[in-house]
Amino acid sequence: MTDRKATLTFDDKTLELPIHSPTAGPDVIDIRKLYAQGDVFTHDPGFTSTSACESTITFIDGDKGELLHRGYPIDQLASKSHYLEVCYLLLYGELPTAAEMEKFENTITRHTMLHEQMTYFYRGFRRDAHPMAIIVGVMGAMSAFYHDSTDISDPRQREIATHRLIAKMPTIVAWAFKYSIGQPFVYPRNDLDYAANFLNMCFSVPAEDYEVSPVLARAMDRIFTLHADHEQNASTSTVRLASSSGANPFACIAAGAACLWGPAHGGANQACLEMLREIGTVDKIPEYIARAKDKDDPFRLMGFGHRVYKNFDPRAKVMKESADEVLDLLGIHDNPTLQVAKELERQALEDPYFAEKKLFPNVDFYSGIILEAMGFPTSMFTPIFALSRTVGWISQWKEQLSDPAHKIGRPRQLYTGHPFRDYVEVENRG
Ligand code: ACO
Repeated sequence: MTDRKATLTFDDKTLELPIHSPTAGPDVIDIRKLYAQGDVFTHDPGFTSTSACESTITFIDGDKGELLHRGYPIDQLASKSHYLEVCYLLLYGELPTAAEMEKFENTITRHTMLHEQMTYFYRGFRRDAHPMAIIVGVMGAMSAFYHDSTDISDPRQREIATHRLIAKMPTIVAWAFKYSIGQPFVYPRNDLDYAANFLNMCFSVPAEDYEVSPVLARAMDRIFTLHADHEQNASTSTVRLASSSGANPFACIAAGAACLWGPAHGGANQACLEMLREIGTVDKIPEYIARAKDKDDPFRLMGFGHRVYKNFDPRAKVMKESADEVLDLLGIHDNPTLQVAKELERQALEDPYFAEKKLFPNVDFYSGIILEAMGFPTSMFTPIFALSRTVGWISQWKEQLSDPAHKIGRPRQLYTGHPFRDYVEVENRG
């Protein structure tokens, strides 16, 4: 914090507003006293110029294409670390010592089972329900099954809820998948690592042996790591807003998952792969690029563009390498979807429209190709994103609750409806 001030002058008023300097990123003008002192609001739909909280978890420099978790760059974390270590880092602020890591892994591993009664809850859904519909329901229902970790004023209960969410999400998501394909639920195996256990719960069946490939488990772990947190995106802001009212952690995380589902956010990976399949062959690409540029056509290139990244998405780079590795391992060399993706990326990046608007492939552009090659249907892409992001949501939730200055989130509005008018009796209308 500094003594610098911004001066705002309007009508006959002049207000001095404090300026805060972050450790990285643009300065912030503190407008909290603006309404009280100046009787005006700021107007910023979509929050394009608004900082809604103070945070020490994740930093993004959209111009440089930089993503840091607690200061560590995502490409180093993706290549040298692993998901549970990144979870620890996001939650507690520092990389764990070997002993801390062992304890954390042990805690997560011992909470992977779901309450058995929850299997009946799954069975209440239609088999053809989108897995996200099931997951949002089951996450919210956790507050009905785990009452003993819903008191947010108790730090121990907060900790238990955090561990439960990270530990149980793979089981929740894998079971939504199993339910949708009519296969029996596979119970978690605590001898496997986090990603391998998830793959085992998704792809093993009681009738035969299934061995998780270490390369696929590594690729899965990398997908989890790359999606772990992304500062104040739409779903995380939803979690913070829900939490600001004092709602329990499971309800808050379910709210975040519901927001993530939209195609402009976590639903983009499913939409992107469906688009690549619809394009089908490289000769059709110019037609789709022309449609994306046409203002009268609502079509957008899914997996392109980002609110914050205006140079490149550092996660997309790592994801592209992973896609090559996974397809190599599986012996998939002439995958038409990948060919369309690579050529679409090349043509779009050469097109002045995309360059001028600073539209680059985002993390979702390549993740779908990997997940499809692993055997996941497109409907599972957003659930896997939700699984990965749970740690980000819960870390931000934890941070918000530990800030004594946090308040209920309550935006105001620029009202453009009718001013006051008297009620009109029905016989006098029209
Ligand atoms: N294809 C074509 N044009 C685009 C695209 C796209 N994918 N994205 C943005 N544009 C254009 C817009 O039409 C707009 O043009 P205009 O200035 O002439 O009106 C301009 O670029 C700016 O776009 P906005 O929508 O204003 O940018 P915003 O920051 O609000 O949106 C978003 C970002 C939602 C990600 C957008 O780029 C998009 O819809 N992309 C496709 C969906 C997608 O991939 N989402 C995943 C995001 S990453 C994530 O959640 C993991």
